[in-house]
Amino acid sequence: MMLKPEQLKAFDEQGYLFFPDCFSEDEVAVMRAEAEGIYKTDRQEVWREKTGAPRTAFAVHTYNEVFRLLSRHPRLVEPLRQLFGEDVYVHQFKINAKAAFEGDVWQWHQDYGTWARDDGMPEPRAMNIAVFLDAVLPINGPLMIIPKSHKHGTLAAGHDNSTTSYPLWTLDKETVTRLTAEAAGLDGIGIVAPTGKPGAVLMFHGNLVHASPPNITPYPRKIVYLTLCAVSNHITKFTRPEWIAHRDFNPIVPVADDALLDYARAHRVAAE
Ligand code: SIN
Ligand code: MN
Repeated sequence: MMLKPEQLKAFDEQGYLFFPDCFSEDEVAVMRAEAEGIYKTDRQEVWREKTGAPRTAFAVHTYNEVFRLLSRHPRLVEPLRQLFGEDVYVHQFKINAKAAFEGDVWQWHQDYGTWARDDGMPEPRAMNIAVFLDAVLPINGPLMIIPKSHKHGTLAAGHDNSTTSYPLWTLDKETVTRLTAEAAGLDGIGIVAPTGKPGAVLMFHGNLVHASPPNITPYPRKIVYLTLCAVSNHITKFTRPEWIAHRDFNPIVPVADDALLDYARAHRVAAE
């Protein structure tokens, strides 16, 4: 999947691209089932909310075949190779649960703020690709983004290690208010929350400001976040565990486009 000139322009201007139909229902079904199994396991890589509900499962691509295939999927890897003009490696991989009734807030932040401060990543030449495993609705804690905020570089942030179970470099209310006022459209609103069905994909710049509210509905909102980084921009500081900020800087070799369906077929055959 190569990006068209108008998509490259939109990404440069807005800081994100949304693909409502990137993966089919069959492809997502196999990923969703694996994710639900992983949340039940007792591993150090599975972080929980303060209530005990799953929050995020890190490094799943290192021990689960379906997510290994996703982390090398050409529909995700090729656009980033195109954007960065070079090979990419996996900096981070996580499946965020935003569990029904218990999924907690993610405060306003820029991803690159953490990668720069904690991991010594030289430039914002890395970004998150969100793959929806459930329907993301206006009501179940969607990701909220501030368009154009990636144009502001890396903003001042404070280290929040008390609000949720996961430490994060977060932005203050004044900064968020200023950025949303700048991004406001004709309706006066400067925040968008891309919603869509399972299989939709959102790619966003490492400096794009984003957050998500708690999920108080009965509808879970699982999203995979694959962070790909240009190989020449690999991290230089190793303050976080290897399974949060990876140290294998080898270029990704993409799998075949139908790799997930192939796995699903083989798996079903094996189960019969
Ligand atoms: C993140 O910003 O890394 C996660 C946000 C979310 O899953 O809502
Ligand atoms: Mn983030």
